[in-house]
Amino acid sequence: EVNWKLADHPKLPKDKVVAMVVLDGWGEADPDQYNCIHVADTPTMDSLKKGAPEKWRLVRAHGKAVGLPTEDDMGNSEVGHNALGAGRIFAQGAKLVDLALASGKIFEGEGFNYIKECFETGTLHLIGLLSDGGVHSRLDQLQLLLKGAAKHGARRIRVHILTDGRDVLDGSSVGFVETLEKELAELRAKGVDAQIASGGGRMYVTMDRYENDWNVVKRGWDAQVLGEAPYKFRNAVEAVKKLREEPKANDQYLPPFVIVDENGKPVGPINDGDAVVTINYRADRMVMLAKALEYEDFDKFDRVRFPKINYTGMLQYDGELKLPNHYLVSPPEIDRTSGEYLVHNGVRTFACSETVKFGHVTFFWNGNRSGCFNPEMEEYVEIPSDVGITFNVQPEMKAKEIAEKARDAILSRKFHQVRVNLPNGDMVGHTGDIHATVVGCKVTDDAVKVILDAIEQVGGIYVVTADHGNAEDMAKRNKSGQPILDKNGNIQVLTSHTLQPVPIAIGGPGLAPGVRFRKDLPNGGLANVAATVMNLHGFEAPGEYEPTLIEVVDN
Ligand code: 3PG
Ligand code: CO
Repeated sequence: EVNWKLADHPKLPKDKVVAMVVLDGWGEADPDQYNCIHVADTPTMDSLKKGAPEKWRLVRAHGKAVGLPTEDDMGNSEVGHNALGAGRIFAQGAKLVDLALASGKIFEGEGFNYIKECFETGTLHLIGLLSDGGVHSRLDQLQLLLKGAAKHGARRIRVHILTDGRDVLDGSSVGFVETLEKELAELRAKGVDAQIASGGGRMYVTMDRYENDWNVVKRGWDAQVLGEAPYKFRNAVEAVKKLREEPKANDQYLPPFVIVDENGKPVGPINDGDAVVTINYRADRMVMLAKALEYEDFDKFDRVRFPKINYTGMLQYDGELKLPNHYLVSPPEIDRTSGEYLVHNGVRTFACSETVKFGHVTFFWNGNRSGCFNPEMEEYVEIPSDVGITFNVQPEMKAKEIAEKARDAILSRKFHQVRVNLPNGDMVGHTGDIHATVVGCKVTDDAVKVILDAIEQVGGIYVVTADHGNAEDMAKRNKSGQPILDKNGNIQVLTSHTLQPVPIAIGGPGLAPGVRFRKDLPNGGLANVAATVMNLHGFEAPGEYEPTLIEVVDN
């Protein structure tokens, strides 16, 4: 039984309005021309940094500080928001899958036994993101899964790939497909009929999120399940190379293709009696496909065929929905999040972002849990994102609308916590368009100002931070930090997140005098923020939470 009652903070008052602002993809890095935050006009964020040194600091947002396997793992929104909301560091999906593969336990569990039922007579299909980005999936895990499946009796395997270019460099897809082809050739040499069956770019095929655009999932379904796509190739390396030749083509947005045999017949549609594994461990961009594969009743698009398959996720993507029912590795159990505690202690909460980041400040924030804890205490508002565009053509996104919703929520005085995610630094940063990302950073800064002004009006408190780095560095660099140039003197554009720390600033007229950042937590990370915010709401954090970043000195 959880004791939900939080102790009163000995010095800090309750009932202040706290704005909790998460700038997505907003890290801190040395100024240069590829630091879009530096290049952009960002007076509000600049003033927070320059204003009061004891109210601005950096926190770690990558690697072990957010539960990732190594310090070489860049941060991401899932683990970042999990840490921000849960106040503790949980071993995340990447790590849990590593452990299950290393121990071999993955091949002994319920999920694997379930797919194994099909190995005699059916095909094993593996669907997922093909890269070593480590945000949603990892190639080395796929390789181990392939080897293990073959060893445990899979006779016929088909891989449905989604090319990346978002968590890794654009153009790296070719190398990843080559590596996978080698792996599959080795399996064939051992008598396993193993091939790539279909593919497409992650942002155009399958990996939509938060139900922004079901067409994306449908394109994948047509290729993966029905074996239908606008492009047909005999070989996946050739497919990716050819499709990349189109003007403006990139890995993230490659069109769907299927691999066909010498008679032009697709080699790997999904049929009755087959087994399917979605190999991504991260939920947000797999859960839509999981619904299509699992739900008997489904009306998001016409599936044409609904094959009777044994489907498992790499992880269970949604514990509340039990989706999917079968999975290879148990997800982290992120319980007793700050959101749940605060609701039990009378803190009324408003959360808002636009669709592409909506689940970040709700689902991820609440420990991968859909919906509110208590609808009477919470209001979650989703602003519809623009659909079918890349955000470099619309770098403003919905930042202004999000800020205005937050402002109205603050001024309404109905809520104690007003929480938003401002997506621009991240979503525009991922396009690799430096110019547009600079615009996105400026727009973000404007949005922060709107929120801080509202906090000023109601005598509230603000916490401004970020979930991981992205827009502060758009160049791939060598070990000494210099951009890597090609023979024409061009940089390799970094579309991915970074290893950089992120800023956190506190302030506002409601912040009690004497509140400042402690000096004894130089390695503080995102997981320290939850206790900090609980304090600002007038509560002590639970004992097992990572320590608060603030102290109150008498003056
Ligand atoms: C994505 O899914 O868009 C990227 O892989 C990671 O971005 P996010 O962690 O900022 O959502
Ligand atoms: Co991102």
